[in-house]
Amino acid sequence: MQDPVSFDVERNRLVIIDQTRLPGELKLLSLHSIEEMETAIRTLQVRGAPAIGVAAAIGLAVLARALGTDDGYSSKLHQYADRLRATRPTAVNLAWALERMLAGPHDPESLAREALAIWSEDIETCRKIGEHGGALLHDGDHVLTHCNAGRLATVRYGTALAPVYIAQEQGKRIHVYADETRPLLQGARLTAYELTEAGVPVTLLCDNMAAGLLSAGAIDAIFIGADRIARNGDTANKTGSLGLSIMARYYDVPFYVCAPFSTIDFSCAEGGEIPIEQRAPEEVTQTWYEERMAPQGIEVYNPAFDIVPNENIAAFVTERGVIPARDLSKQSSCVS
Ligand code: MRU
Repeated sequence: MQDPVSFDVERNRLVIIDQTRLPGELKLLSLHSIEEMETAIRTLQVRGAPAIGVAAAIGLAVLARALGTDDGYSSKLHQYADRLRATRPTAVNLAWALERMLAGPHDPESLAREALAIWSEDIETCRKIGEHGGALLHDGDHVLTHCNAGRLATVRYGTALAPVYIAQEQGKRIHVYADETRPLLQGARLTAYELTEAGVPVTLLCDNMAAGLLSAGAIDAIFIGADRIARNGDTANKTGSLGLSIMARYYDVPFYVCAPFSTIDFSCAEGGEIPIEQRAPEEVTQTWYEERMAPQGIEVYNPAFDIVPNENIAAFVTERGVIPARDLSKQSSCVS
């Protein structure tokens, strides 16, 4: 599969798969203006916490190279970074990637090198998440996932789906149940698409059907991604993750959060401090439908994410290994 985010260094473009067109059409977009990049992140043409971090890093490098020797280079660069950071508030990888870009030398070619380093480290990190998480899976297991934390949400392997891909490479037969993930259907449009492309057996279900599956004992483990993990392990992920974690606890099914260390926000003590993005009512009332699905003017509650409390999580699957949820607060941000 084409990488969902990449850097066309020669043409100086941020290249993304337009995820709003999937699964019907695999369309690439080549972006070079700040407005195009802001729109792409806001409208979820590129989405998933790691992918938007990488996209913002490449985007900033593209913008810096276009500025060249422009007067006011430094202040324009910071304005661009601020605009990119403001596109989505919950996924901390976005701010993390921009901070990392601005922490080193600011000349265009150094920024391009840093963006490429962030891009390639994402591949390596997700592969390690897959190796650690894959060891938790056994031949014949049935895994439930929510939203899309797969290849499309990163540069290559995904986070929550990386264990499935690595287990598949190891010859284990894993069956994935994918929640459709209302309101924007990332599970139906993206997870079902990428797993099918990769030859992984997948069954799609409506979000409200997961309880039935769990009560029937049909699920061995739940794997989800994360947009931001607080220091105490509370985790923001796609709305619906909280409900799933409560059901997992009730039915005693292990609930794993798969994420790179860059998703842990050590400045955030607990889940209540994580800003939750509120999105447009139309996503609930009509997006993806040919006809409007609810009365005009109806009040809509549409948070993009919710918080899974640490006590509902069995473990965090990271590039450094599988960390029991109770031990997350003992971790530090520096790479060991
Ligand atoms: O609104 P989205 O589609 O960007 O939400 C994505 C998720 O919630 C993912 O689970 C999360 O970003 C982790 S992606 C590896």
